[in-house]
Amino acid sequence: MPGLHIGIDLGTTSIIIFVEGKGIVLHESSIAALDVKSGQVLALGNSVYDMLGRNPDSLRVVRPMRDGVISDFTVIHAMVEYFIRKICGNRIFKPSVMICMPASVTGLEKNAILELAIAAGAGRACLVEEPLAAALGAGMNIAQPNGRMVVDIGGGTVDVAVITMGTMAIARSAKVAGNALNEAIQRYIRRERNVLIGELTAEDVKRRIGCAYQRRAELAIGVRGQNYISRLPTRIEVNSSETFFAMRERLNDIADTVHRVLEQTPPEMAGDIYDQGILLTGGGSLLHGLDVHLSRHTGIRVAVAPDPVNCVALGMGKMMKYAKVLSDNNYYYRTDDDIGEYARSRNL
Ligand SMILES: Nc1ncnc2c1ncn2[C@@H]1O[C@H](COP(=O)(O)OP(=O)(O)O)[C@@H](O)[C@H]1O
Ligand SMILES: [Mg+2]
Repeated sequence: MPGLHIGIDLGTTSIIIFVEGKGIVLHESSIAALDVKSGQVLALGNSVYDMLGRNPDSLRVVRPMRDGVISDFTVIHAMVEYFIRKICGNRIFKPSVMICMPASVTGLEKNAILELAIAAGAGRACLVEEPLAAALGAGMNIAQPNGRMVVDIGGGTVDVAVITMGTMAIARSAKVAGNALNEAIQRYIRRERNVLIGELTAEDVKRRIGCAYQRRAELAIGVRGQNYISRLPTRIEVNSSETFFAMRERLNDIADTVHRVLEQTPPEMAGDIYDQGILLTGGGSLLHGLDVHLSRHTGIRVAVAPDPVNCVALGMGKMMKYAKVLSDNNYYYRTDDDIGEYARSRNL
């Protein structure tokens, strides 16, 4: 098949694109700015990130997949089209596009995404399951009859999967992940310190001093916000223990999700997981001490993948290379004709 082979990790927080022969070529926020009146997409990606919480009333900033659900197909279409064009330019051959989405997106929505990718410039398009891509990207050998557990902690969802012989035996998704941790920090600071802070500030606090258990050495940073009572701008110091107290409940929810999947896992595979440990992927796994937290809750060793944010995109790169992995798992590229037929067969 001529033309570029590209893999798009359509995450709730970021879009990462892998191009065969080149590697990861793009990492942008999955966020768009819309004109409120016309609904037109004005800007996309990283350029919109800093507008969060700073946009005028005439602009609406949206994350079309915020909680692992597609809230706005028009925006997704604009995004996919924009990124395909950015990467392929004016090439004559249309690219083969592989797409990964959070497991919580429904089958119907995923089919709609395939259609949309073809309308947006893909010659053919294929969907792959995120946990499989994440496991491959982390360097796991997934083909063996051996149960492995992968926990992907993204922005909107945590996806827990047990993989064996190249397929998913169990998959579960919960809507408590990175965004929920930010919201918990915002709520805590409002309640305990009477200060309102923005989403970007909460994200910054989490990345710089956030921790999933109480650190021995306390860290602190200055944070800008607005006094909840006087409504005047203010600056306070926040320390890492506060982030722990703020996020504690949500972190326990994440651990419970993992726990429930372990409970459902048949004994042979549970034994495999006990021996080999749990693998963490996704940006959320970079939170300080999250591996320790999950390990304490489950009694199982937990390791963070080497490049957790890029695992899914790197895994798609491997899938392109080993096309057999794809055909073994019934993944195949769909073209405009297939999709047209699918739509006709269902009177869509
Ligand atoms: N150093 C860090 N510490 C804590 N959380 C982080 C860090 N880096 C990224 N994150 C979180 O990771 C999440 C995004 O992860 P990502 O895998 O890119 O998500 P998605 O696949 O849903 O787009 C965000 O919620 C972000 O806050
Ligand atoms: Mg992801």
